[in-house]
Amino acid sequence: MMDDDISVIELVGSLASQSPSIDTTQRAALTHFAQAVLAGLARPPRSIPCRFFYDAKGSELFEEITKLEDYYPTRVETELLLAHGAEIGNLVGRGRMLVEFGSGSSRKTSLLIQALGGVPAYVPIDIAGESLAEAADWLRGQHPDLVIKPLIADFTTAVALPSVASGGPKLGFFSGSTIGNLTHGEASAFLANAARLLGRGSFFLIGVDLKKAPAILLPAYNDAGGVTAAFNLNLLTRINRELGGNFDLTRFSHDAVYDEAKGRVEMHLVSLVDQTVRILGRNFAFAMGERIHTENSHKYSVEQFQVLARGAGWEPVKAWIDADNLFSLHLLQRA
Ligand code: AVJ
Repeated sequence: MMDDDISVIELVGSLASQSPSIDTTQRAALTHFAQAVLAGLARPPRSIPCRFFYDAKGSELFEEITKLEDYYPTRVETELLLAHGAEIGNLVGRGRMLVEFGSGSSRKTSLLIQALGGVPAYVPIDIAGESLAEAADWLRGQHPDLVIKPLIADFTTAVALPSVASGGPKLGFFSGSTIGNLTHGEASAFLANAARLLGRGSFFLIGVDLKKAPAILLPAYNDAGGVTAAFNLNLLTRINRELGGNFDLTRFSHDAVYDEAKGRVEMHLVSLVDQTVRILGRNFAFAMGERIHTENSHKYSVEQFQVLARGAGWEPVKAWIDADNLFSLHLLQRA
């Protein structure tokens, strides 16, 4: 905990008292957001965790990103699922409960359930309770008899599955290369936790974005239409609205860079002028050119990811990649 947790809780309290409809859960979420933003902006290099992108507007903008020509991951991963779903179904067999990490809108899940010839139960794990409910409604429309047991939790730290899913063989699913948002150390810890959570004999299907030329990577994170820029800048709009900030969005710009050594795309917000911003009653001075690091998106070769998985207790079964070497789908089994 930060030294000034108490004052952050007081600040959030005074903010929340202006909107009496706010409940305890929302107040706790607001406190987390406030703490992350105040801590992340307090010292250089400034950063804010990427999970805060996904308010209602941010989730909408992300859905828009997934449909862009420049953003290949969603399109290619969907193609891989369609092309290899039958083989995946044969390898994992019938009757496994499906557990999805960071399920989001669950669109790709439907393809997987079809390829598996149905599943006895589906456990989506996501922190966003509202989008979980929406995704569950949509999926029920596609698969009327599907048993859905959502778990509202941070998928990186979830400790137990709902009791209905405690027994029986399982298939984990982690799509979209969301694992790329984690550092290598965090990804390894996540895979080890998932191994424990899913249990002996379980399979894990994971979508992982491949290393490739910056000429392809960078437009995916800085599209011509400016949707990704709007997605990144929306974080400042969210701070203004939820934390009483006064960011001027015309005085920051979106930037995406590829760090070859770290094998990751980084997104930043760059201050265009010397300026001072107020957030929750505190001043933050930004020099012209100063950056806020808002996202990491790590890229892996097939072999590099298999080494990481092995180290975390998973045996690689098979990996599929598209003809253009853009994206990979890994099937792992618990060692
Ligand atoms: C869904 C988190 C994997 O890193 O590619 C898209 C998020 N950020 N455009 C990614 C994202 C900018 C996306 N993940």
